[in-house]
Amino acid sequence: MELILTQPDDWHVHLRDGAAMQAVTPHTARQFKRAVIMPNLKPPVTTVMMALQYRERILGSLPSTCAFEPLMTLYLTDNTSAHEVSLAAQTPEIIGFKLYPAGATTNSDLGVSDLGKCRTALEAMQRLGVPLLIHGEVTDKTVDIFDREAIFIERILIPLRKDFPALKIVLEHITTRQAAQYVSEAADPIAATITPQHLLYNRNAIFSGGLRPHWYCLPVLKREEHRLALLAAATGGNTRFFLGTDTAPHARALKEHASACAGCFTGLHALELYAHAFEQAQALDKLEAFASFHGPDFYGLPRNRGIVTLKRQAWTIPEELPFLESGLVPLAAGETLNWRFSVS
Ligand code: DOR
Ligand code: ZN
Repeated sequence: MELILTQPDDWHVHLRDGAAMQAVTPHTARQFKRAVIMPNLKPPVTTVMMALQYRERILGSLPSTCAFEPLMTLYLTDNTSAHEVSLAAQTPEIIGFKLYPAGATTNSDLGVSDLGKCRTALEAMQRLGVPLLIHGEVTDKTVDIFDREAIFIERILIPLRKDFPALKIVLEHITTRQAAQYVSEAADPIAATITPQHLLYNRNAIFSGGLRPHWYCLPVLKREEHRLALLAAATGGNTRFFLGTDTAPHARALKEHASACAGCFTGLHALELYAHAFEQAQALDKLEAFASFHGPDFYGLPRNRGIVTLKRQAWTIPEELPFLESGLVPLAAGETLNWRFSVS
């Protein structure tokens, strides 16, 4: 048995830089035609010039025959100027700005300390139709880590949308019932990406049989009721929800560490993981629209023309892939998947 799909895109990817980038980019480029590249490098990608140079390095890590298209993002800061926004709007290789609340996640220290400082940039983005991609978590230390997304919607997102109702927003890697509900019901233009780990696992996965750092990402996995709400959103056919893996490689030594880095590596087997989740929900017929149609439609880009095939064939996720000095552990390493990706 096989599933034939229009070639999908990944609307949220971390490729890193240098040797790490060389190791992971081919995985994403094998499954996806396009991918939205996150800008949280060290230093962050804050200008169009930096993004275009980064894009060249990404393309340089692939064979010249590869048709992969990186869609670049810029890292929003307190100091992002309207001029930079207007440059981004005129540069087709740039797809939008990424908002990291300062301190919310990996390499976010130079992110936004107070959205009030970004009004000029946000106003320009709204006016020029440049999307804002949001890491939606408050960083208030008094807010429980499991509540940070739901509180972000109330405290930051709703006021932001009141001030900038025409700003195009993607709420990235949503993890809660509240986010799924907000995105379903809010006025246009808003959408959300959903990762495979948040469709497949609840927070028990982080603690089952011991502390399991390879299941630790941000926003952190939530309760089962939230997983079920996300699964319903992803498989419900609503065009506002689409595929974004948030594949985020960290070397094994930094994951299996006293303060483990946040991030799940799913670049190797992204589509198979989604197929697994959709099959569990008896919604394989909804996978193609989620993976290949809703994203480009929201961003106003053409749908891909090529096709990919998923074969019903059991295979075991490898325990480790080559990556820097200590290797890279894919999400669910050693477990069996029932679908296997192949290019047609
Ligand atoms: O788990 C995560 N890892 N969440 C993020 O927001 C960032 C990412 C990373 O860059 O490692
Ligand atoms: Zn991310």
